[in-house]
Amino acid sequence: MRTIAHISDLHFGTEDRALEEALLADLQAVRPSVVAVSGDLTQRARRREFAAARAFLHQLPAPRVVVPGNHDIPLFDLPRRFLAPLARYHEYIDREADPFYEDDEIALQGINTARSNTWKEGRVSEAQIADLRRRLCALPEDRFKVMVTHHPFASAPGRAATAVVGRALRALEAAAACGVELLLAGHLHSGYTADVRATHVSLGRSMIVAQAGTALSRRRRDEPNAYNLITVDAPRLAIEVRAFSGRCFEKAGATAYAKAGGEWRRES
Ligand SMILES: [Fe+2]
Ligand SMILES: [Fe+2]
Repeated sequence: MRTIAHISDLHFGTEDRALEEALLADLQAVRPSVVAVSGDLTQRARRREFAAARAFLHQLPAPRVVVPGNHDIPLFDLPRRFLAPLARYHEYIDREADPFYEDDEIALQGINTARSNTWKEGRVSEAQIADLRRRLCALPEDRFKVMVTHHPFASAPGRAATAVVGRALRALEAAAACGVELLLAGHLHSGYTADVRATHVSLGRSMIVAQAGTALSRRRRDEPNAYNLITVDAPRLAIEVRAFSGRCFEKAGATAYAKAGGEWRRES
């Protein structure tokens, strides 16, 4: 069994100190096996924002798999946006924008989807898809495989379709071929879970999407600040939403899935 704390859209620069401390306390208390951070660490890719994000990340439990978001690339500083989009991310957060973690139960592949030209929608490149195949298809079949991106692969159930990341279907076909089970993303500041085939009906594999709300930003969409605490106990998967109550982060909802006959089915 493994637990993944999936946090997203920290947006340092707009953060609230009390909220930040409550999140830190909760993550230190739940002691996840791994922390996945699905991008938008900063609001405007400023140095002081990256410095605050780095100081926060260093206090989180390890190991950590961190990917950049569109806000980690400058929007208005055009020379920097197009010539050195991730220079500060690399300087402050990680030299690697497509990080990989594995232990003897789970593997997480981070994929940087932040782009200078498709700033809002993001994209996966052909080279990243080739790397994904090379790395994840080589792993043992029973390793629980997870993909971490900033931009989403699937819409929320029952809501209007959202723009998914560029080359979503090609990346998902590679993920399906390598046996990926779970897709973690953010960007929408809205938390939900779904089977990715609800959006991509042609896909031949059932995979669960877990979107995290914004953990720290005050720019929320009628939802409290929250993160996902995910328990992987194959063939079961439980996604607990831990939301800020005004004082601390606590359980605010949970979804459980079980896989049988190649299908993820929602149990509760
Ligand atoms: Fe965001
Ligand atoms: Fe974003």
